[in-house]
Amino acid sequence: MTGGHLQIIVCGAGPAADVTTLINTAHEQSWTAVVTATPHAVSLIDVADVERLTGAPVRTDYRKSPGVRRSLPAADALIIAPATYNSINKIALGLADNYAMTSIAELIGGQVPTVIVPFVNTALAARLPFRRAVTSLRDEGVHILLGSAEGWEPHPPGSGNDRQSEFPWVTAFKTAAEQAVRYGA
Ligand SMILES: Cc1cc2nc3c(=O)[nH]c(=O)nc-3n(C[C@H](O)[C@H](O)[C@H](O)COP(=O)(O)O)c2cc1C
Repeated sequence: MTGGHLQIIVCGAGPAADVTTLINTAHEQSWTAVVTATPHAVSLIDVADVERLTGAPVRTDYRKSPGVRRSLPAADALIIAPATYNSINKIALGLADNYAMTSIAELIGGQVPTVIVPFVNTALAARLPFRRAVTSLRDEGVHILLGSAEGWEPHPPGSGNDRQSEFPWVTAFKTAAEQAVRYGA
């Protein structure tokens, strides 16, 4: 699919600083992209740079976006990346305690093709609540780039900085674009 519109939701993990890689990848394939950030992610991204690239405000909540529509624009695909342990657990439970989580709940519920790219260490990934969250989201039709079959594994605790440069932004975009075609978005 060319010319789609991508909604990116960024959570508070190190690779958030590199979200411009995903925006540029989308632009190279003639997609437009906008970014929503969780409150914890905002301090990790260069907001001005992201807004210059996307031509749209970075959304964090309703109040901080004067003049911007409350409702989300239609999206052909949603990528949640990097997705934290915290947010993945919340998304699976259907929690909507901030603008990003509410948006995600609406987009997944609205059948928008969704790809989640976790950035978690092996200790967090071993927790039963996290494993249940991943299973639950997959059962809902969400594509989660996690595990050997997906080519993206949790990293050992303390090695996140080293792993950050390997974050699979391009794979995330390709997967989302394929999902958008498959589901006729
Ligand atoms: C610099 C920094 C890096 C972090 N990296 C990670 C990470 O790689 N994975 C993760 O799950 N949480 C990480 N955290 C912790 C999350 O930011 C924290 O759990 C936060 O509550 C997540 O909020 P959010 O899910 O709403 O973005 C990091 C925190 C900071 C300050």
